[in-house]
Amino acid sequence: MALLEVDDLQVAFDTEDGRLRAVRGLSFSVEAGQTLGIVGESGSGKSVATQSMVGLTRGARISGRALFDGDDLLTMAPENLRALRGNQIGMVFQDPLTSLHPQYTVGWQIQEAILAHEQIRKGEARKRAVDLLGQVGISQPERRVDDFPHQFSGGMRQRAMIAMALSLSPRLLIADEPTTALDVTVQAQVLELMKKLQAEYGTALILITHDLGVVADMADDVLVMYAGRAVEKADRRTLYYRQHHPYSKGLLASVPASAAHAPGERLIPIAGQPPSLLHLPSGCAFHPRCPYVMDVCVSETPELLSVPSIASENRPSENRPASENRPAGGHVSACHLPPEAVGPSPDAESRRERAVAAGRSTPVAVLQDEGAA
Ligand SMILES: Nc1ncnc2c1ncn2[C@@H]1O[C@H](COP(=O)(O)OP(=O)(O)OP(=O)(O)O)[C@@H](O)[C@H]1O
Ligand SMILES: [Mg+2]
Repeated sequence: MALLEVDDLQVAFDTEDGRLRAVRGLSFSVEAGQTLGIVGESGSGKSVATQSMVGLTRGARISGRALFDGDDLLTMAPENLRALRGNQIGMVFQDPLTSLHPQYTVGWQIQEAILAHEQIRKGEARKRAVDLLGQVGISQPERRVDDFPHQFSGGMRQRAMIAMALSLSPRLLIADEPTTALDVTVQAQVLELMKKLQAEYGTALILITHDLGVVADMADDVLVMYAGRAVEKADRRTLYYRQHHPYSKGLLASVPASAAHAPGERLIPIAGQPPSLLHLPSGCAFHPRCPYVMDVCVSETPELLSVPSIASENRPSENRPASENRPAGGHVSACHLPPEAVGPSPDAESRRERAVAAGRSTPVAVLQDEGAA
């Protein structure tokens, strides 16, 4: 059984304009030691989905199940959930100001987080806090440890939060855009640290990000969200090379192949805007923006169904430990198109070349061993 099993999660808010359905039946699971990447445009429900599981969405109507080690987080007593959050479930948020207390120094907060779940001396906890701040790239950590959150820059606050989350060695880490405010070097450092933690403690990681490069490097599985739903889920290689949903394809074509944006690289944004969650289009919510739209897309909501694997023979073996080398099963997509109608991934080969040219290791790690998909 997976460490976290989410089944038919629904989250709605009652607003002045009516009921806003932010998450509409989301199911996924994450195993210990595995990373699930969640991607999707702004407003697709990534944050609401994960925050509602851990009791951090106020005034939301929530249904479904979210089993953490067998216990349903959605029906758990608030104090038990709080205890889990301070102990087994670590979180890094988009806006770190909301989770650092303004009246306590950064170091004190990390130290207390450590002391809350480990029987060590105060001095030792403080030393660990300094250490962790150093590891997330804060220079002169022994001095900055006594700063208050407002004395930190936005990126530093985010790193402080990451340090705090990592200090728990949590069983599950939910990282919501953990590295967006950070420059490339620090970003790489922080991601490395998360990987190390994962290897050491078998932490399950949910990584929410806009940066498909980060997902390519970190995630085992990728879930693509659109308008509160999962539109596609697959292991990362399938998602990058044999994605089925036109929205996934659009997302991949609209981001740079590398952080160092290659000159002359053409990015193709997805036309239009995500729909209002108060007034969803009929049928497939993506149909008004979909280049492949058919009549059935307007009238019928596609179910999330298994995608028959095409051209899955002769795949080069993956350059990872055997234990991580899982079969490419579980590729699901919510689209009426037959798989062959969508064709191969957008210019995979030229993206590979661009990534190599830009000298960035992130997407290349995936792209090189795949070769021409
Ligand atoms: N408390 C709330 N009350 C009403 N609507 C909300 C509330 N919180 C979130 N929403 C709405 O839910 C939807 C999903 O929001 P969410 O924050 O999950 O998006 P996201 O995918 O995380 O986007 P981003 O990439 O910008 O962080 C949005 O339409 C948002 O406006
Ligand atoms: Mg968000």
